[in-house]
Amino acid sequence: MKAAWLERYGKGEVRQTVGERAAPRLGAKDVLLRVSVAGVNPLDNMIAHGEVKVLVPYKTPLVMGNECVGVVEKIGPSVTMFKQGDRVYARLPLNRIGAFAEYVAVDEAALALTPDYLSDEEAAAIPLTALTAMQALDLMRAEPGKTIFISGGTGSFGAMAIPLAKARGLTVITNGSGKNAGRVMELGADRFIDYRKEDYATALSDVDYVIDSLGGAELEKQFSILKRGGKLVSLRGGPNKAFAQRIGASPIMRLVFGFVNRKYDAMAARNGQTYDFIFVHSDGRQLAEASEILAGLEVHPSVDGVYVLEDVNAALQKVAGGGSRGKTVIQIQ
Ligand SMILES: NC(=O)c1ccc[n+]([C@@H]2O[C@H](COP(=O)([O-])OP(=O)(O)OC[C@H]3O[C@@H](n4cnc5c(N)ncnc54)[C@H](OP(=O)(O)O)[C@@H]3O)[C@@H](O)[C@H]2O)c1
Repeated sequence: MKAAWLERYGKGEVRQTVGERAAPRLGAKDVLLRVSVAGVNPLDNMIAHGEVKVLVPYKTPLVMGNECVGVVEKIGPSVTMFKQGDRVYARLPLNRIGAFAEYVAVDEAALALTPDYLSDEEAAAIPLTALTAMQALDLMRAEPGKTIFISGGTGSFGAMAIPLAKARGLTVITNGSGKNAGRVMELGADRFIDYRKEDYATALSDVDYVIDSLGGAELEKQFSILKRGGKLVSLRGGPNKAFAQRIGASPIMRLVFGFVNRKYDAMAARNGQTYDFIFVHSDGRQLAEASEILAGLEVHPSVDGVYVLEDVNAALQKVAGGGSRGKTVIQIQ
């Protein structure tokens, strides 16, 4: 089958190789998916840079790609939830990615039916970011009537997080690039802050929850707008001890994460707040739940660039360059 793979980790622009690979082997609980469209995420570049090695030590050569939509070609003997011909999508399980390929074998527990109202290009924009939003909101046990600040909400994460947070009855404030303000307000945001024109740290205070998509120095600022006892979930800050415990990491990894990112727990502790990090995992049931909410709201993710597999490197560079007006996707077949 045709696929794009990472030969070795590197820095800067790490080029993928496009060529022929053996088709994946099907396990008993696996579905063989004929991939139609794959979504491209900042995570793909992070993997190529070796930035998530500490969380998932992928071995190279590695067929890349974390999420896709496609049609069930074949099912393993113990598959019960899907049949040949079903149109499905998934954030692929962490230990077995490979969406930038004509075929991928996926544990059925990771899959959900693709909503009929979406094109394949739109659907490929959903699983990874929708699951991230669901997992962040669940972790903070977000309650209706409260206020959430989602940083960088003009990106592909915000396109899912804003409607899903609104659906939980939250007041949603977000910031991001001014050119995407209209799109973000249409998604249901209550307030938008252009990050180049206004500083949210002076404009906001006493918010109940924050989902951080920026990390670095922005984290301190985001703690400063959080009320006493508020909760912050970061997609970028880095794993701490609580994360290590949640994923069942070894005692050594608990110590390492606890030590390396202790500054975030310390920032949170100053005002009785909490800091959590998430690394989005596959979950077919949760994706089906998110799909139902998004279908009810008729959310159509905006797609900014459609590439073919041979142009995978250009697609990855586009995502690395920022300034996006929606999701970048790769049409596989
Ligand atoms: N931990 C996890 O499981 C997980 C899951 C999903 C995503 N993430 C991370 O979350 C981040 C966002 O993902 P994404 O897919 O939404 O990326 P994206 O589509 O590239 O969007 C990022 C958005 O943030 C805006 N932005 C850049 N600098 C900003 C700043 N200082 N203040 C406010 N907005 C700013 C960008 O605007 P301009 O570029 O137009 O200026 C863009 O609209 C990425 O770092 C990704 O790796 C992590």
